[in-house]
Amino acid sequence: MGHGIVQVLLRHGYSVALSDASESFLAKGRGRIEKGLARDVEKSRLTAEQRDEALARLTTSTSLDSVAAADFIIEAITENFDAKASVWRELDARAKPGVIFASNTSSISITRLAAVTRRPAQFLGLHFFNPVPVMKLVEIVPGLETLPDTVDRSEKLALSLEKTPVRVNDFPGFISNRVLMPMINEAIYAVMEGVAEPQAVDAVMKLGMNHPMGPLELADFIGLDVCLDIMKVLYEGFHDSKYRPCPLLEKMVAAGRLGRKTGRGFYSY
Ligand code: CAA
Repeated sequence: MGHGIVQVLLRHGYSVALSDASESFLAKGRGRIEKGLARDVEKSRLTAEQRDEALARLTTSTSLDSVAAADFIIEAITENFDAKASVWRELDARAKPGVIFASNTSSISITRLAAVTRRPAQFLGLHFFNPVPVMKLVEIVPGLETLPDTVDRSEKLALSLEKTPVRVNDFPGFISNRVLMPMINEAIYAVMEGVAEPQAVDAVMKLGMNHPMGPLELADFIGLDVCLDIMKVLYEGFHDSKYRPCPLLEKMVAAGRLGRKTGRGFYSY
């Protein structure tokens, strides 16, 4: 999601220092950002000059030192507590005082992530939705120690990006994934139990419920690995069997059928 977040920040006048684990990830990210901004020019949301000026405000680096000067740091790495905690420890050691720490986590406890840093009062969840340039929502998730000023400044940032911030408390999956993921998981159970083919499950939800994408198409879009990670966070967080990940979801992830990003999930791409 990082490239979508960067595209939106650049489009709204911010300077962005983008950091990723390798030069090839950075090149891929930059390519997607350029493509997204080119689309903005095509659709007359930006002029070609504004696009060039926006791209000139983007710097990339594999070193986290590059974000040391930032006023606001948004982390959007893989949905895994240990990986996120390790990046946040490094960022905490480098970032300047007064900075806001925001995680784009879709389900992991903000309070727990904040506690690995020395500044939990400046830490919160800032949860964007895919495709970031299109979706209006940003979930704003204060942890137990987050100060109101941190929340206010983050809401202002979201509004400046023409997003609608919605404040929710720090519980597993927040609101979005506490409601969305059990629906996707149940749709996968329906396929596993032979109730209907994926196309039929999706057709029911699109035509009967007016969802823009059916749950299985959406699962492929989000990434089946991400869906499984989120189900695990819900299951482990609530200790309630109603959140148990569907065995078919686990099997597809084990087989590397992760959805659009690997060319195959419930559908082929
Ligand atoms: N990246 C960027 N922009 C995209 C895009 C993508 N992957 N896919 C579509 N768009 C843009 C298109 O360019 C188009 O914009 P403009 O024409 O204004 O430039 C606009 O979206 C509409 O696209 P289309 O007309 O081609 O297609 P559509 O009307 O079918 O809409 C959709 C596509 C917006 C993706 C729609 O199908 C949709 O809303 N799907 C549901 C998405 C959703 O539920 N997202 C949340 C996922 S959960 C999550 O992200 C968080 C989490 O924690 C797991």
